[in-house]
Amino acid sequence: MAAAWLKDAVFYEIYPQSFLDTNGDGIGDFKGIEEKLDYILSLGCNALWINPCYDSPFKDAGYDVRDYKKTAARYGTNEDLYRLFEKAHEKGIHVLLDLVPGHTSEEHAWFRESQKDEANEFSDRYIWTDFCFRGASGLPYIGGESERSGAYVLNFFKCQPALNYGFLNPTENWQLSWRDPRCIATREALKDIIRFWLSKGCDGFRVDMAASLVKLDDEKKSGTSAIWRDVRRMLDAEFPEAVMVSEWSNPKLALRAGYDTDFCLNEPGSGYGTLMRDYDNGEDHSYFKKDAGGSINRFLDQYLDWYEDTKDLGYISLITCNHDTRRPALNLDETELGLAYAFIFTMPGVPFLYYGDEIGMRWLDLPTKEGGYYRTGSRTPMQWTSGKNLGFSTADAKDLYLPVDSAPDAPTVEAQEKDPASLLNTVRALLKLRHAHKDLQSDAPLKILCCEPGRPFIYQRGDMVLALNTTGSSLKAALPQVQKELVFSLGTGSWEEGQLEVGPQSFVVFA
Ligand code: NOJ
Repeated sequence: MAAAWLKDAVFYEIYPQSFLDTNGDGIGDFKGIEEKLDYILSLGCNALWINPCYDSPFKDAGYDVRDYKKTAARYGTNEDLYRLFEKAHEKGIHVLLDLVPGHTSEEHAWFRESQKDEANEFSDRYIWTDFCFRGASGLPYIGGESERSGAYVLNFFKCQPALNYGFLNPTENWQLSWRDPRCIATREALKDIIRFWLSKGCDGFRVDMAASLVKLDDEKKSGTSAIWRDVRRMLDAEFPEAVMVSEWSNPKLALRAGYDTDFCLNEPGSGYGTLMRDYDNGEDHSYFKKDAGGSINRFLDQYLDWYEDTKDLGYISLITCNHDTRRPALNLDETELGLAYAFIFTMPGVPFLYYGDEIGMRWLDLPTKEGGYYRTGSRTPMQWTSGKNLGFSTADAKDLYLPVDSAPDAPTVEAQEKDPASLLNTVRALLKLRHAHKDLQSDAPLKILCCEPGRPFIYQRGDMVLALNTTGSSLKAALPQVQKELVFSLGTGSWEEGQLEVGPQSFVVFA
């Protein structure tokens, strides 16, 4: 069962490069996050996920770790990060780091050792074939770059060699079983990293590519899941409150493997894409886009199957977006974003808000930076004020990590603070509502009351009834149960004589 503190947790994801630069070098830092803890609390977020902030050559924005136990100098020292944990805890904020278990940077000392011809402690830390001209059939690999005669398996980009957790059923003599002591040594090294950060005060991890450990694993991911269960046993014994959030997008497997919550991401069938925007065919049939013909059922079909199966095991996390997706403001306007967030923040599970989505920061069409490609456009500096570099940094604009949004109407926190109807204040109101009602928190039950086309989408959380209409016309449904009082609304709605009516582009909550 998931850690108790997740019941009322709302996460804020910070891409540290772009949050706040306090030393004028053009890139965000730990002190910048520390300075903004009160802002984060003011949103209603009480937990953080910080993208990888370890020493790295940054060929994949830090997901290519060179030293797991050392922070990247550009963000600050290890001590600065420990102090951030402390300051956050003083304010009741939990902090998750990003754990990258499946691969390291090609510049990691383990990999450098592993590349040597002479056998050493790290020879089997990565997956190598047994001859320079033998590839790893069925897996991406690189040959010809090492003293050692062999090719090594990649986990993602070319700069990210796969750590060796073994194969489910080895078929070649260079493939080790996931139960082999040499693969167990990789797992123990991972536990050592986990222990290191938890003992320094971090509260858990968002786990990158959590399903990627054991190679040629079966559909049930039996090998990979067994490893995570082993990690969970260690956590239960040594750090029982530690939270593990998986980038897996298969909660049925992830929660059974010991994760507290799993992300619902934009993978085929996960429904996130069809919910926020239609990634697959370029046309926009997002459910939240006014009159775009999107149906909530495209999302619910997948989600409810997952939810019913996993609700007693842990959570499913809905996100506004993340550092890998285009920002939702690319296709949704402020009203549509408000409705999307209303839905995300009132559904079961632990929600995640990506920095800047609270003000509707835009996706910018930029050249790639640090392996970002299209993702770069969602990683631009946070827009705080109307001042220099929108308050992100005092550096010259040319020295910024990425350019700030130069549009004259670029949204900022400063401007939206002053407008009670702004997206920022809508987010605050929604999160306040969530915290005020146990029935809206992570573990309160969900029941769908109406999801027919042409009717409002009506759902129940605990004893509360919520209704959403994303179209431009008023929608009605018969709801002949005991009526409740309207306690919150974006737009208009009423519930009278067994009829629930939701105005155009409106969201209403009854308790
Ligand atoms: C998923 C991360 O979210 C992404 O940013 C990264 O590039 C890959 N995993 C590889 O680590």
